[in-house]
Amino acid sequence: MGKIAVIGSCSTDFTVQSSQIPAQGETVLGEHFSIDFGGKGANQAIAAARLGGNVKMIGAVGDDDFGQKILANFKRHHIDISDMQMVPGPSGSAHITLYDNDNRIIVVPSANHHITFPSEAALEKQLQDVDFVVLQQEINLNINEQVIHYCAAHEIPVLLNPAPATQLDPELIHQVTYLTPNEAERELIFPNQTLSESLAAHPNKLIVTLGDQGAIYHNGMTECFIPSFKTQPLDTTGAGDTFNGALVVGLINGLSLADAIKQANLAASLSVQKLGAQGGIPTLEELQAAEAQL
Ligand code: RIB
Ligand code: NA
Repeated sequence: MGKIAVIGSCSTDFTVQSSQIPAQGETVLGEHFSIDFGGKGANQAIAAARLGGNVKMIGAVGDDDFGQKILANFKRHHIDISDMQMVPGPSGSAHITLYDNDNRIIVVPSANHHITFPSEAALEKQLQDVDFVVLQQEINLNINEQVIHYCAAHEIPVLLNPAPATQLDPELIHQVTYLTPNEAERELIFPNQTLSESLAAHPNKLIVTLGDQGAIYHNGMTECFIPSFKTQPLDTTGAGDTFNGALVVGLINGLSLADAIKQANLAASLSVQKLGAQGGIPTLEELQAAEAQL
């Protein structure tokens, strides 16, 4: 199977669950605390690996215990970490509060913002046997730009999940193969276009995720809405990452875009049934079992 390189963030998620949102200056009691693996890049890599993808992770951890654990988690999932960096200082972290259906996240990038900018030669070596590159926006965005230009020049498909959202240079949008914002991110990227206008302007490239509704794209002829599979979510953290990781595995396995999105929707719907960003990400066997029950 083709090799997928995920270039992006690796973090530890510190999650507190509470039924009350504290007001300014107020202290409330929460119900649950957990420490889990996270970071959008890492979550996407783990999703792709659990679903049978041949995955390489490129990013940075700090020289603390969290960094060691993050690397061990990749190894357990048979992810190639030969180009992971360890930099002085803390590993990235995300501080998440879950209030019923509302989740709020503060990310402290730490090591994720200290990934060494690769030279052209280093990048060539890192990506020499790679067939698909996956990017998000929790690392230094100059690296994303460099990777996108490199991949465009070398005809390596790139999926950019523009989260957290920023405005994007039209040249970058032109060069990526797939762009997968949610609706709020899409509005920031295409402020002067409605959803339908932006989809029609970027057929088979722009895939907008619509939370628990599903995802939508334009196939060049018509708009295609691919509905999600309804579930009772326990924790939606990382659902988008599961979607992206699963989407790439589907595409590299030769599924049509519609079928890859359908499978990614199913993977995401399974992922939200367990706590933690990586908690409910299905294995290939679990996904197939769920598919058989549809
Ligand atoms: O997309 C979910 C991820 O965003 C969490 O795992 C957290 O690390 C934040 O970066
Ligand atoms: Na989960």
